[in-house]
Amino acid sequence: MKKSKPRKAKRAAVKRRARPATPRVVIVGFGRLGGAIAIGLDQAGWDVSAFPRSGDAVRRAASFRIRLADHDDLRLADLCVLAVPDGAVAQVTEQLEDDLGPDTALVHLSGALPLATFAKARTARAFGSFHPLVAVSDPRDELSGHSVAVASTSRELKGQLMAMAAALGLEPIEVPETGRAAYHAGAVLSAGLVVSLADAGVSALEHAGLDRTAALHALLPLMRSALRGMESRGLEKGLTGPVVRGDVGVVQSHLEALPPELGSLYRLLSRRALRLTATLPAETRLALERLLM
Ligand SMILES: NC(=O)c1ccc[n+]([C@@H]2O[C@H](COP(=O)([O-])OP(=O)(O)OC[C@H]3O[C@@H](n4cnc5c(N)ncnc54)[C@H](OP(=O)(O)O)[C@@H]3O)[C@@H](O)[C@H]2O)c1
Repeated sequence: MKKSKPRKAKRAAVKRRARPATPRVVIVGFGRLGGAIAIGLDQAGWDVSAFPRSGDAVRRAASFRIRLADHDDLRLADLCVLAVPDGAVAQVTEQLEDDLGPDTALVHLSGALPLATFAKARTARAFGSFHPLVAVSDPRDELSGHSVAVASTSRELKGQLMAMAAALGLEPIEVPETGRAAYHAGAVLSAGLVVSLADAGVSALEHAGLDRTAALHALLPLMRSALRGMESRGLEKGLTGPVVRGDVGVVQSHLEALPPELGSLYRLLSRRALRLTATLPAETRLALERLLM
């Protein structure tokens, strides 16, 4: 019995010094995505605190019961996540560097910025990027079930970012650093610019005499059904409409009815639809190609 006491004390001391099972995270900025990540990690039981800028952001973090970071949190964090606009990443890095511990990794959430954004950092530490492919317009939005592009300058940080993805229910993908701008353009085409496309659809219905609100109400379920078709059957088999049916007369009537700006967009997207359609007779394809030039 006498001998076991010091061993117990030793084990307790080792336990106190041991790194926590999950990385300690400070989120800088409590906006849309920073808020959603903080809430998600908190719910997953991670040690997460927020470092907001304005009084409004402090109140937002408090309303979700997210702890505010103090100097010790910044110094002891494993990951410091910069949830600020892309244009502020370099400046916030510069402002925070001296407050962070030497082993704290800096991670941005931008899809467009390469890791070279951190090239001007004064301190040697790991740098990373964690870009969820999800449109977050409120911190309460669900992250789980989406993909996330992960990049890092160190193997240890990559493991931590993979663990963060798993905790948030995100599926990690890797994007070559040289392809970041094209990757992010694809993401924008598939999210924000789908809203622009919906606006074009709404305008066509307004042109037909419908009210704007009623038009959006009618088109949203239609858009969802198109997404469902694509999700279950892929791009080629999920495609519907007059191009895939080879309905040349219908396409012609659409082009005659639409105002010029909408007509140009319709032509551009229909040419894309024609590329996805392999089964049309040669003369129908030629007629559509001529019409859509
Ligand atoms: N939202 C999305 O769907 C989404 C998806 C993928 C990636 N991202 C990326 O996530 C990052 C954040 O985007 P977001 O949409 O979450 O932006 P956001 O909602 O506008 O939030 C940005 C936050 O940064 C703070 N901030 C702004 N300038 C700052 C500065 N100079 N110093 C410190 N804090 C500053 C703001 O503080 P105040 O509240 O005090 O003004 C705000 O809380 C961006 O890199 C973006 O590309 C966003």
